[in-house]
Amino acid sequence: MNKSLGVLLLFYLSVFCLHAEDGSRLWLRFQAVNAENLPGITSINGNPASMAVQEFQTAWTEISGKSLPVTSKLTDKTLVIGTAKNKNVRSFGLNAELDKVGREGYLIKTIQRRNQTVTLVVSESENGLLYGIFHLLRLVQTGQLTEQVDIAEKPLYDIRMLNHWDNLNGTVERGYAGYSIWKWDELPNHISPQYREYGRANASVGINGTVLNNVNATPQILTTEYLEKVKMIADELRPYHIKVYLSINFSSPAELGGLENSDPFNDDVQKWWRGKVNEIYRLIPDFGGFLVKANSEGLPGPQDYGRTHADGANMLADALNPHGGIVMWRAFVYHPTNEDRAKQACQEFMPLDGKFRDNVIVQVKNGPIDFQPREPFSPLFGAMKHTALMPELQITQEYLGFSNHLVFLATQWKEFFESDTYCNGKNSTVAKTTDGTIFSHSLSAIAGVANIGQDANWCGHHFAQANWYAFGRLAWNHELTADEIAEEWLRMTFTQQNDFIVPMTQMMLDSWKTAVNYMMPLGLHHIFAWDHHYGPEPWCDIPGARPDWLPKYYHNADEKGIGFDRTTNGSDAVLQYHPPLKDHFNDIGTCPENLLLWFHHVPWNHTMKNGRTLWNELCYRYDTGVQQVREFQKTWDKAESYIDGERFRHVQSRLKIQSRDAVWWKDACLLYFQTYSGKPIPYDIERPVHELNDLKKIKLDLRHHN
Ligand code: GCU
Repeated sequence: MNKSLGVLLLFYLSVFCLHAEDGSRLWLRFQAVNAENLPGITSINGNPASMAVQEFQTAWTEISGKSLPVTSKLTDKTLVIGTAKNKNVRSFGLNAELDKVGREGYLIKTIQRRNQTVTLVVSESENGLLYGIFHLLRLVQTGQLTEQVDIAEKPLYDIRMLNHWDNLNGTVERGYAGYSIWKWDELPNHISPQYREYGRANASVGINGTVLNNVNATPQILTTEYLEKVKMIADELRPYHIKVYLSINFSSPAELGGLENSDPFNDDVQKWWRGKVNEIYRLIPDFGGFLVKANSEGLPGPQDYGRTHADGANMLADALNPHGGIVMWRAFVYHPTNEDRAKQACQEFMPLDGKFRDNVIVQVKNGPIDFQPREPFSPLFGAMKHTALMPELQITQEYLGFSNHLVFLATQWKEFFESDTYCNGKNSTVAKTTDGTIFSHSLSAIAGVANIGQDANWCGHHFAQANWYAFGRLAWNHELTADEIAEEWLRMTFTQQNDFIVPMTQMMLDSWKTAVNYMMPLGLHHIFAWDHHYGPEPWCDIPGARPDWLPKYYHNADEKGIGFDRTTNGSDAVLQYHPPLKDHFNDIGTCPENLLLWFHHVPWNHTMKNGRTLWNELCYRYDTGVQQVREFQKTWDKAESYIDGERFRHVQSRLKIQSRDAVWWKDACLLYFQTYSGKPIPYDIERPVHELNDLKKIKLDLRHHN
């Protein structure tokens, strides 16, 4: 090709790329990698049918424009991709090392032998090979590949799964990225190519399971018609080693099977479940199991028949056990009683500790209430010692600005993982209580409520992709830092240029703290509007409404002060934590200030650690949140020249919404709480730009739903 033609082609290509950038390729972008980052590899030794080999080939072709020969020989610069069964792999004598990383783990090594340099990606399973290949590619994408590689990786949770809250009519509960990616009406005849892309993206971060439908499940999902559709999705995800699970409705035997009731002690009910489970496994031999929301928010469950959660879970577990399936039984329960909502899950589940079958795992949200911007960890972690527990994190930003706000959640999740439960002395972190370090159970798992929909960029906000990515990375290894994850995601998703990476990493790391500041600082929680969880409505009062669904229940603002008294003088919720934590939380002097109003009703004049009064501190926190979002806008605008215009403008427009929303939150909360505190907003703080009465009239604009 002559030179000017080449330049012209490059020009068109770059123009095309700038315009075609819709974010659909997520972090899996190999064409943007510089050829000099490529490892010195000239051939692949491996099974051409292996997904790991195929993925490496695809990426290599994208990067270099060439495909690598797959050979059965070992020559200089060969990349060996093989399980322990491969005879070339065996010749390296890696059995002891492979044993240590387990079935899904892998080794990546550069080995010099007989004047040859060979790179190995080896595992005991095909799953491990795929994870290993994506690791190697990540090193290439982020420019971290060194000449000598020696990596041994093993996942810290066995089951790493997404929970989709997707309805069969295509809507997604708490979904902010368009309709569900599962196209039930087209299935089983038409298979969307997106299922494979979804499988690939998940495998690239080590996710190995997915619950396809909403926890608020309809019995319809278990009809033969729907199971045949589920089978088609399972077939598409299997090559990426992702198992399919379903949420079930506990009343299915009565509602679908026409039985008199769904009592777990009724023989006919047990038989119905066994039959249904057998039918599922005939279609999907590696089906994962059931996720169950029972006797929670109006859904049916075993308590309808005077039975316990354990009775219900065990009945399902017995039906699944012969096939190797599991039950994930949710502990998200609360009732409109006089008891503090934050205490109720412990009260219901602690008496059942040790009563669940081995193939049951109790799924517990990170905090005791409901995915609030900041919560202490749920006291069930570390308390239920004889039952396997799995954390449930929320990737979708139900309470954090939907897909309008840039909030990187790895920092929130890290705080959760690293919280010390003290259940076994110091350093008994939540992570260690669930990953098998402290308690040994036959199952270890973690779930994240997905933020995925049909939007071209999958998650609504380009930066919301980072939360999907971070969930996968932390589910694999909760010891990674938020910093590492943000940086690798940015490098893979946008550009390698440090002038972009450094400020963006900082912005991501600050973003959760920022959202907490402008929404609910100092331990405030659940002061959202009644009919959505987007904007503020601390004044909300609906005659006859359940008190625990009203903001006032949580903030308790009055002339004296603000906050929920969960101390021993109040609801006593502190007692559900182990010492010395319960004493730390109980004492206003030692309670961490970022959870102060979660545990205490605090006088407006209370002196904070920095010497300010509580009222003034509250004002400064809200104001800081607003100022921080404005800084994000500046940081982002400065980045314009580093990335494509399409993603630049998209994020820029979302930051404008976030900035306006932060002011809305600040004005609404400060003007309303001021009616109780009776104190001025410190004069060096930006003045409110809204009237409280106008804010009270706001009804959610559907714009926010995307
Ligand atoms: C929250 C959320 C609901 C969801 C529920 C759950 O309350 O708002 O939409 O169904 O959690 O986790 O079951």
